[in-house]
Formats: sequence, structure tokens, C-alpha cells
Amino acid sequence: MAFDIEMIEKVYANMATRVDKARELVGRPLTLSEKILYAHLWEGTPSQAFTRGKDYVDFAPDRVACQDATAQMALLQFMHAGKSKVAVPTTVHCDHLIQAKVGAKTDLQVANSQSKEVFDFLSSVSNKYGIGFWKPGSGIIHQIVLENYAFPGGMMIGTDSHTVNAGGLGMLAIGVGGADAVDVMSGMSWELKFPKLIGVKLTGKLSGWTAPKDVILKVADILTVKGGTGAIVEYFGEGAEAMSCTGKGTICNMGAEIGATTSTFGYDDSMRRYLAATGRQDVVNAADKVATYLTADAEVYATPEKYFDQLIEINLSELEPHINGPFTPDRGTPVSKMKAEAEANGWPLKVEWGLIGSCTNSSYEDMSRAASIVEQAVAHGITPKAEFGINPGSEQIRYTIERDGIIATFEKMGTKVFTNACGPCIGQWDREGADKAEKNTIVHSFNRNFSKRADGNPNTHAFVTSPEMVAALAISGRLDFNPITDTLLNDKGEEVKLVAPNGDELPKRGFDVEDAGFQAPAADGSSVQVVVSPTSERLQLLDPFQPWDGENITGAKLLIKAFGKCTTDHISMAGPWLRFRGHLDNISNNMLIGAENAFTSKTNSVKNQLTNEYAEVPAVARAYKAAGIPSIVVGDHNYGEGSSREHAAMEPRHLGVKAVLVKSFARIHETNLKKQGMLALTFANEADYDKIQENDTINFLDLKEFAPGKPLTLEFVHADGTKDVIMANHSYNEGQIGWFVAGSALNLIAAGKA
Ligand code: F3S
Repeated sequence: MAFDIEMIEKVYANMATRVDKARELVGRPLTLSEKILYAHLWEGTPSQAFTRGKDYVDFAPDRVACQDATAQMALLQFMHAGKSKVAVPTTVHCDHLIQAKVGAKTDLQVANSQSKEVFDFLSSVSNKYGIGFWKPGSGIIHQIVLENYAFPGGMMIGTDSHTVNAGGLGMLAIGVGGADAVDVMSGMSWELKFPKLIGVKLTGKLSGWTAPKDVILKVADILTVKGGTGAIVEYFGEGAEAMSCTGKGTICNMGAEIGATTSTFGYDDSMRRYLAATGRQDVVNAADKVATYLTADAEVYATPEKYFDQLIEINLSELEPHINGPFTPDRGTPVSKMKAEAEANGWPLKVEWGLIGSCTNSSYEDMSRAASIVEQAVAHGITPKAEFGINPGSEQIRYTIERDGIIATFEKMGTKVFTNACGPCIGQWDREGADKAEKNTIVHSFNRNFSKRADGNPNTHAFVTSPEMVAALAISGRLDFNPITDTLLNDKGEEVKLVAPNGDELPKRGFDVEDAGFQAPAADGSSVQVVVSPTSERLQLLDPFQPWDGENITGAKLLIKAFGKCTTDHISMAGPWLRFRGHLDNISNNMLIGAENAFTSKTNSVKNQLTNEYAEVPAVARAYKAAGIPSIVVGDHNYGEGSSREHAAMEPRHLGVKAVLVKSFARIHETNLKKQGMLALTFANEADYDKIQENDTINFLDLKEFAPGKPLTLEFVHADGTKDVIMANHSYNEGQIGWFVAGSALNLIAAGKA
């Protein structure tokens, strides 16, 4: 599991030149975030200053990480790039497909059998193309990245929104869609709008029951789920320095819950300690040589109001433990106010389950602090009132806390230890009785608490808090229990007050593990066979999309005119469709089934012009495709907003849709369509949307002259023979037109022309 010290040293070797040049171009001191961004420009040494929140910039990330659910399509696509090896260090982590039910051993066996073909596929592709593979049971992607790969001043992308966790080690780590990961793995640049910057100054010091988790619960309460959109959150101040590296990871992790691009902290002693404890003293040695480049310039933190777009100040000495929820992570309630809030809102006060772990709170410090509460309860003869479960973040953590007696402590309370995997955090939890949909409360140390997320029950009120608070609330069995002021009754009827948690930031005897679950790739993978059964329901090798034939598209049928909101969920639904993420043909059966037909106001019902009958959208698309007839999708404003999932672009491409013509696009989806070789077009005159009729046939008149900045002309022939000629704008540059011509961006890479 080599963490590639040579790559890190290379990044540091360029740091001074690039950052010094950037400072000169920008003409003022630089924040840490800006230093890392300018040190990772695709062009190398910067030649211009960028405007935050405005300029789109090409970057060269140092690493890629993928989790098992999103890696399937990413790797299927990468196989078409014609490369023998990934261009940057990449890892794949099997953590999302393991259900929590009985306990780690049995649950892992079940997952290994149910998802065998997916795991075997990911393992063999990784082996072939130089990708590090973390087996099922090895742990959760972000915990493993923090333990093994994150490094101060680095930039990485990952196909999971909580990739941002690595900011705890001073990285800029950003969650992306599979298409972006494929680009970087194939040796292409990665584009991002130069982010705005939010500074969070942490004064004072955490103490007592307050934990790093409370910092981000408070920030989420202040900024709300959208407040960080398009911005990097940079934390600094004495409070930040006094905090553990893993605590910083927790704070950065939940930056995803405020919509932030990512979050980060400057390089400090806590990071040195964590790197050394996880076997990376050589990273410390390398980082120390460029330490001034791994934090902001001194003036920035002295007068932050001059350098950040927004500034928040939190005094950790006054911060109370928070309990956020239910149903949204930005509804923050300080523990002292919970009783009144819960009563006023009718939240069930009885806590049924306490869950600890996930990628958010799986550190040794988290586990040992929570265990210190359990230890007290056991010593005082207090019987816990709620059930308790743990998902350790990695085998290294699990092994070490077992060795140190922490698991044994939890087990004294009847705790279930689930697999080192996402489990209940991603709804992979077979919770007994959840199907009864009863109103109930659970508390957990995860990051998200949307309706149905943990157990599928819309009436489960899930609250997010720190692991030590989860322990206290689960033991008391009450949501309104305040361990700072309240007492509990023990088995003898005596009142007992819990003392504040204590724990070790890092294990005194060091971390240990017998089998971390890592599979190194073959040095030469050329002879490794990637096996996908042709009868598989879940995996399907991709055929390259056909190149453009150089002719105008003519005789195309209108597949759907979508009305109103059409997000990537409307285009490619999640939920039960997740199991087909690696099978393009099967998942295409969800294409646009959530979109509203503008003519009938119905979903998943469109007119098949060949039969004049209404049928499901994918079925009609397949009928046109089978008849050799191209089709076109028309949409409203902000078409494709939501996630960056590439399936929303690949499915229409697979089912014969040639163009998507809308009032406006969400930018990532527009790019994804371009990458898959589709025409992503916008009405030059929005009112033309109203001219589109249900039985229209569409002809392109000047596609042969497709060029940057030149609108395209489309003729809509209506059923009565009348016509409307409509102008369509586009934002293709020369290179992107090359993607269209080649059939997809990947085809161009495979041809060695990108
Ligand atoms: Fe997994 Fe939940 Fe983290 S799904 S990656 S533990 S946010």
C-alpha cells in the first residue's frame, strides 16, 4: 500500500516556484487553499491570476479514489481509454455494498457472496491497470485514504462526496462524478470553477463533552446545507492547532453537508503526529521542508477579513455539544436546548439505537472517548436503554481497538460490531422492524440524516452528534438527556453523573493490523484478464459509442419534452437502480422515468410516434433505436442539476438520443453529455420551447458546419406538415467538438488524440 513518497516529493519540489509566482500574479498574500490550487494547475507554473467564483480552471490532481458503487462505471469507461495503467495513483475501496445485520463476520460473508461478481470485477480491473484495491472488509474509503494516502498540500479527487475528509491532513480533496475520475486516470486535466473562500477562525479550546464534531455541527447550523456551495472552507486559529488531525478530518468530512467544494486546515503538529503514527515519517520529513507553503501566509490569518469572501468565528471554549436533526444535518440544537426543542416539535424522546463509526467519526480518539463513557456506565451498574452498533472505519482501527480492549468495553453493553464498511450510513442496514414504519428516534455519529437514509423508514428521526454524545444518549435512552447537568439511575436506584469523556488521540502502543485488506496491483498487468459474464445482470462491458458519420442528423423523433425540474435523479434514478450501476443496458431502463411529459403532465409516459401509443420513456427510446431512428430530448431550465452521475448522460447516448435541447443546463451535466459524444444545446430564444409539438420530427440543417460560437439550425416538422426553424446555441470548444466527432471523449483518448 505504498503511499508514493516520490509523487509527494515531486509535488513539494514544485511548490515554491508555483506558489511564489502565484503570489506575484495575485499581488497579495495567499490563503492555504489558493496555494494548493495554484500549485496544481494543469499548465504548471501559473501565468495568470484567477477570479474566485468565476474562472474555470484546469487542474492536475495527485490522486484518485473510487468507492465500489461508483467505481464500476468509472472503470468500465477507463477500460476504453486504451491505457495500460492509470496516469495518477488510484485506489478502489469496497465499502458501500456490505449490509449490516447480524455482525461483521456473517455480514461480510453474505456480501462477498451476493456481490461477488462486482468485487471480482473491481479486483481484476484494479490488478490490470495499476490500481490499489481495498477488499470488502478493509474499511471505508475516506478513513483508509486518511490513514494511507492523504498528505499536506496535496490535491485529490474521489468518486464520493465525502472525499473531502482528507482535508484533515491539509489536502484539497474533492468529490466528483465517475467521468471526472476517468479523465484524470486517463491522463487528462480536471476542470473546476476557481472556488470562493470561507474562513473559519477557531478561538479557544475544546474541553469537556465538546468534540470536533460539534464545530462542524455548529458551522452547518450557521451556513445551512447550501451555504458552502462553490467555496472552500479553510479553518485556522489556536483552536484548530489544538485539535487532533482526525478531529480535523471529521470537520472536513461534513463540509459535504454544507455543500462546500472542500475544506482544509494548515499543516501543524497534529498532522505530524498522525502521519508518524500511521507509518509516514518520510512524509513529515518532506513536508517540513516546505512547511511555509502548507499553510496560509501569516498576514492572512492575522487579518482574515481581508482575504476570505466570508468569515466565521467560533469560540471553542464556549461551544456546547450539538445534536443536529432530524432529517437534515443543518438543524442544530445545543444539548442544553434539546429538551425544549424536542418537546416543542414532538420528536420521539426515547432513543432506540445509538450508532458509532462511519467515515465521519472512526478515529482512535472517537472510539476511546465513546468507550470511556461506556466504561463508566458499566462500572456504575447502569443498564443501557438503547441498542448500540459500531461500524469501524478500517481494519487497522478495528484491530487496534480490539487489541486495546475498546471493543471488549463496547461489548459489555451488548454492542453489535458490524463490518468495517458504510453499513447503516448508506442504508445498508437490515434493521429489525423498520418495515413497520413506526415513529422513532436514533442517534448516530455519521454525517447525513435525511429521511429513510439509515433504515428506509421515513418515520425514523435520525440525529447526528459526536460519538461520545451517541454513547451518552444511547445509555440514557433519552434524546433530551444532557450529560453535563443530568444524572442517571443505576441498578441500585442511585443517581450517577457521568464525567466528561476522555480518550487518546492516538494509540499509546501504536496502530496495528494483521491483514489490512489491501491488494497491490500487478507490476505488469498486461496478461491480467478482466472477466465479466455476458449473462451478468449487474455488469456489462461497454462498447465504444459510434463516431459521428459526418452527416446532418435527420428524421429524428422527439422522445420527450420535459417540463419543469429535471434533475439527474429524474434522468437516472437512484434507489433500487443502484445495483445496475455497472450495467449500462439494464440501468438505462430508468432513463428519464422521473421527468414530467410537458404534453400530458405524466411521468414515464410518452408518445411513440411509430405506433401512436403511449409507453414508458425507455421503451419508446428503444423502439426508435431498433428502427434506426435517432431521437431528441427537449428540456426546461437547469436541466441535469443535482449530482454529477455520468449515467444520466450515458443512458440517453446508449438508447439512441442524439441531442438534448433545453432552456439551460446544469453545467456538470452539460459537460457529461459532451463527454459522451452527445449534442448539448440551448434554445437561442427560450420561447421556442413552446413551439415544440408532440409529433415533431427534427432535422439538423447545418451540423456539418459545427464550430465554436456558431449556433446550429434545427428544423422541427410538425404533424400537419408545417415547420418551425429554431436556432440552438452551444458552448463547445474545438476540443469538445472533437469529442462529438469521435463519438465520445474516451474514444478520442483511446485514439491517442486527446
Ligand atoms: Fe460511506 Fe457514509 Fe461515508 S456511505 S463513505 S460512511 S458518508
